[in-house]
Amino acid sequence: MNWEIRDHLECGEDCHLKIGGADAIELAEEYGTPLFVINERRVKERFREFWGALKKRYEKIKVCYAVKANSSLAILKILKEEGAGFEVVSEYEFLSALKIGAKPEDIVFNGANKSQRELELAVKEDVLINVDSLSELEKLEKISERLGRVASIGIRVNPGVNVRTHKDLATGTEYSHFGIHLQEAKNVFEKAHRSKHLALRGVHMHIGSQITSTQPFVRAINKVFCLLADLSRSGISLEIVDLGGGLGVGYEGEHPPTAEEYAEAVISAVKSNLKKYNLSEPLLIFEPGRYILADAGVCLLRVGVVKKTPDGSKWAIVDGGSNILLRATTGVYRFKMILANKAGMKARERVNVAGPLCFGGDVIGRNVRLPSVEEGDILAVLCAGAYTISLSHQYNMRPRPPVVLVSNGRHRLIREAERFENLIAKEIV
Ligand code: LLP
Repeated sequence: MNWEIRDHLECGEDCHLKIGGADAIELAEEYGTPLFVINERRVKERFREFWGALKKRYEKIKVCYAVKANSSLAILKILKEEGAGFEVVSEYEFLSALKIGAKPEDIVFNGANKSQRELELAVKEDVLINVDSLSELEKLEKISERLGRVASIGIRVNPGVNVRTHKDLATGTEYSHFGIHLQEAKNVFEKAHRSKHLALRGVHMHIGSQITSTQPFVRAINKVFCLLADLSRSGISLEIVDLGGGLGVGYEGEHPPTAEEYAEAVISAVKSNLKKYNLSEPLLIFEPGRYILADAGVCLLRVGVVKKTPDGSKWAIVDGGSNILLRATTGVYRFKMILANKAGMKARERVNVAGPLCFGGDVIGRNVRLPSVEEGDILAVLCAGAYTISLSHQYNMRPRPPVVLVSNGRHRLIREAERFENLIAKEIV
């Protein structure tokens, strides 16, 4: 079966899906559905693969997990224990990282429009701030001066490369609003370099997410190093090169590079540029999110209704839709789906899978190949650990589901299900 991953996703003799040794059907019964299940071992494995592939090729690296992919505190804690730093883009992501004991020096603060409060906090805590615009540089300079501090900064550049991913996930193209486009970058670096209130330490790029080829990374690196060489000729040398995140994962029909292939391409590109321009080795920062969390997570949903429409399509209506699997309904990527109680059975039919929400677009899968689907079946949506819970919403007043962590066959709740009281807690009548 093309979804099995040893010691992570397996089919038991009873035809039940096992996640890290735990029976998915038992989990669905004990905790209810919808339910997110994350396998701790797999999170660690992916982090180690990613880190290890880079580390064996280049000594000075730091991997800062992108908190937005999945911000559960238990997950952040596991990754911190693995040696991860954190990439944050808001005050509360930042506070979450601090809460699990991350040190400010292991945190990178990104974002296209950081608030005054966020900038102040970042300066006071002395984290590396990747400045996204000239406007932000000017604000930050004033804040640092007022606080009597010297802010540690990198500058996010936009290398202007096309990336074959969904248009919403590309952030480094000529038309993208992120970062400072290369044409204007030198001026901004020079301005930052001249400032008494800013310590210019690095350059940052992030060209997009769910990238399934190594080429765009290499093209972007070549462009960024061309800028670094130019800056170096003007007496500005940088000690940090932050290459962002973006490595894709194996959603339906996708064949992303492995961590080894990614590391080989990226580190070779960095090394050849260092040689070409005679630059000294910087610290390389990486900000993976999806790669670390996506395939460690499974979303379990119960089929409540099966029906046919006059065009002959069979529909399975499940108890979670775009509220928890937003991207499944917007066509950004297609999740692999199996029936957790018929995991070893052959696919027999094509089924459309809809969520329970009140709008026509709440369809999380079209023409999904599944064994014969019946009411009561448990649908397992695979590769659902990243950008699902963190993108969830409460339309139709549906509470966010619980999250369970599986560790070597044992399981525990790491996030409780929301209840009615939580949903109305901030209402004022
Ligand atoms: N660094 C920066 C500056 C980012 O903007 C992102 C993701 C990352 C790192 C991590 O990228 P990753 O390794 O996870 O690809 N909401 C979207 C995902 C947007 C990703 C945004 N930035 C989705 O629905 O999939």
